[in-house]
Amino acid sequence: MKIDVTRKLPEHLDTLILIHEENGKLKGLEFLDQDTIQMLENFVKEDDYSFGYGKISTFACIKGKKRETFILVGAGAKSKLDSNKMRDLFAMGWRAAMAAKAKQVQVMLGFSSALGDVNLGHVLAESALLSAYRFDKYLSKPEASTIENIHLLLSTKNTRYLNRGILAGRIFAESTNMARDLVNEPANIINPESLAEFAKKTALQYGFSIETHSADKIKRLKMDALLAVGKGSKVDPRLIIMRYTGNPDKKNQLIALVGKGLTYDTGGYCIKPANSMMGMKSDMGGAAAVIGTMAAVANLKLKVNVVAIIAAAENMISGEAYRPGDIITSMSGKTIEVVNTDAEGRLTLVDAIHYVLEKEKADKVLDIATLTGAAAAALGQDYSVVIGNNEPWIEQLKEASRDSGELIWQMPLHEPYKELIKSEMADMKNVGGPLAGAITAALFIREYVQNKPWIHIDIAGSTMKDKPKGIYGVGATGVGVRLLTSLLRNME
Ligand code: BES
Ligand code: MG
Ligand code: ZN
Repeated sequence: MKIDVTRKLPEHLDTLILIHEENGKLKGLEFLDQDTIQMLENFVKEDDYSFGYGKISTFACIKGKKRETFILVGAGAKSKLDSNKMRDLFAMGWRAAMAAKAKQVQVMLGFSSALGDVNLGHVLAESALLSAYRFDKYLSKPEASTIENIHLLLSTKNTRYLNRGILAGRIFAESTNMARDLVNEPANIINPESLAEFAKKTALQYGFSIETHSADKIKRLKMDALLAVGKGSKVDPRLIIMRYTGNPDKKNQLIALVGKGLTYDTGGYCIKPANSMMGMKSDMGGAAAVIGTMAAVANLKLKVNVVAIIAAAENMISGEAYRPGDIITSMSGKTIEVVNTDAEGRLTLVDAIHYVLEKEKADKVLDIATLTGAAAAALGQDYSVVIGNNEPWIEQLKEASRDSGELIWQMPLHEPYKELIKSEMADMKNVGGPLAGAITAALFIREYVQNKPWIHIDIAGSTMKDKPKGIYGVGATGVGVRLLTSLLRNME
């Protein structure tokens, strides 16, 4: 899809999207001829159309034997428009355009945007590529988006900043769509081995380095928590380590991203009921988020140093699988009583975190994981849960959330609940009971971060969508990629 800025309408109009503020006279129509302006004015008057925020109207007319489609998108009060609202408005426009089978789309703003050109270009391109995304490779008759070109009509001569934004927005969206593909791909295709292969291909394509370890090496590293989780599967666990050095200055901090990479989660012997198991190909949503982020960061050439790690495994059942009651020794030496084999994510994460602190000497750790049904129950599909031990860093993440539009909500790292994961048999148990599941999971992980600044993002709710909405279709959201890339950009 081509996306650019132009100062002129084409001879034959295919589809025009007009995003306009509420009330008052139609403005900013100087690109259009008198007839078209008259027609738009009549339409607005006849329909009493007010351009309230999020209101959409599509109509078509025939001009010289050709159909012209007009899509009106209400922007509400201009003073309330920020880049997140703009992204959503664009997305509504693209969805209406795709429904009308538009190919050549012109976009006009009936007001001068207060966003700044870089931001405007960014949300324009990002929303277009995210909204047009479909996972249709397994359909005999795929219904791809019809949009071929998008032209933003603006009278400005200096398009440098707009184009810079368009380029960045494209990178953000393409990396997100890559993560979406990876999550949507079923578990008969993506297992720990093929996930590692995918990461290798991505590293080669985007220019960051990668190392993968198979079971032998993982055994030598004594990552027995990871090994225990993967024992029931035919495909052994893999450890995937990706590195990007954008700022060779040694004084610069090394930031670790840890992504949960369960390529499938049956629950193990504490097996999930059929309904809950259905979505569990997405249990590597955190891994997809960190791979996507690495691609974006390398593509944007951010001046940061990042190491991303995935302890990939498949939680299955067999004569070799781990059992409830097993006591395992994690890489750190801390012992864990497994009271539920379905609380497997935290076992893989703590070995990965210990590795990245000990072997890679990371200064800060951020983990992102489809970790608890409790997070999904608390906040639904629109928000990710955030818990951490360092308020200034969390503040930076909140800023990244405002920039990217990926919603987060902080929960407390409530110390007294540590009681809930105490074990009689081992240093800790892997489940804290039915209450505050997202928090007790975070408290478990916290025991392994060695007091380093740490952020935990639980994306169990936000990694998949049941219904299409705005920039999201049904299935994987690619959540985390834009949030983490924005965070790292703010940390440059
Ligand atoms: N992968 C699941 C969490 C999950 C739930 C992700 C729903 C996406 C959607 C995780 O491994 C899990 O099974 N968690 C258990 C933990 C419990 C046994 C303490 C859960 O939340 O039920
Ligand atoms: Mg589980
Ligand atoms: Zn899981």
